[in-house]
Amino acid sequence: MSSFSYIKKAVDQRKSQHLFRKRTVVSSNVSMVMEVEGNYYLNFASNDYLGLGQQQDVLQSYVEGLSLHGAGSGASSVVSGYNKEHLALESFICEHTNKEAALLFSSGFAANQAICHALFASGFSKPQENLVISDKWMHASFVEAASSLQTPFKRFKHNDLEHLAYLLDSCPSNTLIASEGVFSMDGDEAPLSDMVNLLETSAFTNRPWLMVDDAHAIGVTGNSGMGSCDASNPDRDQIDIVMGTFGKAIGTSGAFVAGSQALIDFLLNFARHYVYSTAIPAAVAKATLTSFKLMRDSDSRNLLHQNIALFKHKCLSRGIPLTDSASAIQPIILGNPELTLNCSLSLKALGIWVGCIRTPTVPKHTDRLRITLSAMHQEKDINALVDALELSLKQNGFNSKTNGPTL
Ligand SMILES: Cc1ncc(COP(=O)(O)O)c(C=O)c1O
Repeated sequence: MSSFSYIKKAVDQRKSQHLFRKRTVVSSNVSMVMEVEGNYYLNFASNDYLGLGQQQDVLQSYVEGLSLHGAGSGASSVVSGYNKEHLALESFICEHTNKEAALLFSSGFAANQAICHALFASGFSKPQENLVISDKWMHASFVEAASSLQTPFKRFKHNDLEHLAYLLDSCPSNTLIASEGVFSMDGDEAPLSDMVNLLETSAFTNRPWLMVDDAHAIGVTGNSGMGSCDASNPDRDQIDIVMGTFGKAIGTSGAFVAGSQALIDFLLNFARHYVYSTAIPAAVAKATLTSFKLMRDSDSRNLLHQNIALFKHKCLSRGIPLTDSASAIQPIILGNPELTLNCSLSLKALGIWVGCIRTPTVPKHTDRLRITLSAMHQEKDINALVDALELSLKQNGFNSKTNGPTL
């Protein structure tokens, strides 16, 4: 038998279960119209919720950054890769999240890994002194890191504060509670103010820390678009760690972690994902800062929220089953991978591209179409989407009363 004989078996099994993932080559993606293999699709599967990734000023900053600083950063931030553009972006983030300090990471995945590993695996505490508690639906990048630690890791039922309180009943000295601000696959929000209240009103010897992964809220929620902590003002001082990504509403790539100066100094010294990784290109930092400023000052968040309201209203009038999500992420839960795949293929045949999300990305029996709306969509795009959804659900025998295929 050859080495790694399970590889082929695992892939074949995924194929037979309609769970095999493959990539599509996108030739162009402009104004929410995507070209794939010579065909054009309305793109309802992008996290560029405000269209900032294509905004002229952002592109111009990118180009200026490239000509000033070159294509890459050349080294880790702790060697020679840290540039004035990184500093300017960090300062903006601190000012607007009301945190003392921030660090930039090449991705949100790396940032979540770094937080878990630096806090719990740097050898400063014993596993029994530590505890990680996260929402059950917390993103894979956090769950993967937390599960790989020797530290006990517990998960509370989604948005269930009674369950969280129960898990907090006996918590050791170093307890980290983590939640997403807006959940990536469901689009609903965490009750952050209530979580803060719970921490404030409970008697702890050491108050646990609260961390928010705000990947899908940065740019979209809050008065200045700075995410869930901005929206739940004045509680944001009580949120100890804010992680946000640039690859979604900000339209570039990378991520930040913001917190106390002590936390950031600690990560700068002990987070291996930061220390042993090349800094994000200065051009990306420059374009990202421009994007943040545009986001803060523009009314595109209102346009996005108008589009969300329009989509929900039209779906309601056609009996298309939506969830309570009020965000740009609108799932249609179909509950089986084959049906989800078939519906997404029917939608493609009608020129509509949506996310086809199957287990294990989401729990079994909650396979779904994941529709993401953007401020860039026009009313006619949303009309086309709703018409196509109605038709494809019907064509594939989806019964909205039983939330499953018609038998
Ligand atoms: C909630 C959440 N956290 C973290 C990440 C990872 O961010 P990045 O894409 O920058 O690696 C994602 C991306 O899908 C996400 O949805």
